[in-house]
Amino acid sequence: MSEFIPVLTKEAIATKVEEVAQAISTDYRDCDLILVGILKGAFIFLSDLIRHLSIPVKVDFICASSYGDGTSSSGRVKLVKDVDLEIENKDVIIVEDIVDTGTTLSYLVAHLKSSGAASVRICTLIDKKERRQTDVQVDYACHTVDKGFLVGYGLDYAEFYRNLPEVYHLKL
Ligand code: IMP
Ligand code: MG
Repeated sequence: MSEFIPVLTKEAIATKVEEVAQAISTDYRDCDLILVGILKGAFIFLSDLIRHLSIPVKVDFICASSYGDGTSSSGRVKLVKDVDLEIENKDVIIVEDIVDTGTTLSYLVAHLKSSGAASVRICTLIDKKERRQTDVQVDYACHTVDKGFLVGYGLDYAEFYRNLPEVYHLKL
């Protein structure tokens, strides 16, 4: 039987999301900011984050996949959907659910820079350190964990559990 060990409560998530939104609002005042959410995992985090921003912002989505239905990365990234907005000379923050090996983000940062973005930073709900394989710079992180496969608040296991309002460590 799978075990769900609580990691982040609703309150812990909400507090941190608000703090990060305030930091972004300060750092990006007077900028042409576009938040680019990575589908599908970031959709809940992004929707909460933007409601706490106090600056003008545009929102877009990008979809990349490096995972199958398992719990470890395939190491290859495929761009499934690019952004629709014009990002040339715009300041972009990529919004991710969880950074693990960093493979997906280093690919997407390079992709958005080569598309002409003026700057590209990374904002993630969870920075999972232990399996990092690239030196991708995480600029805003709500929470940091060492290891473990997490689900809930957008994070899935084989497409399930995204709807859980809290984050759990899933022990299979
Ligand atoms: P990376 O390219 O190895 O950094 O993988 C990032 C992607 O893997 C994330 O966007 C997630 O979709 C998925 N992922 C990595 N760790 C977890 C986890 O603990 N739970 C759910 N998805 C994860
Ligand atoms: Mg996923």
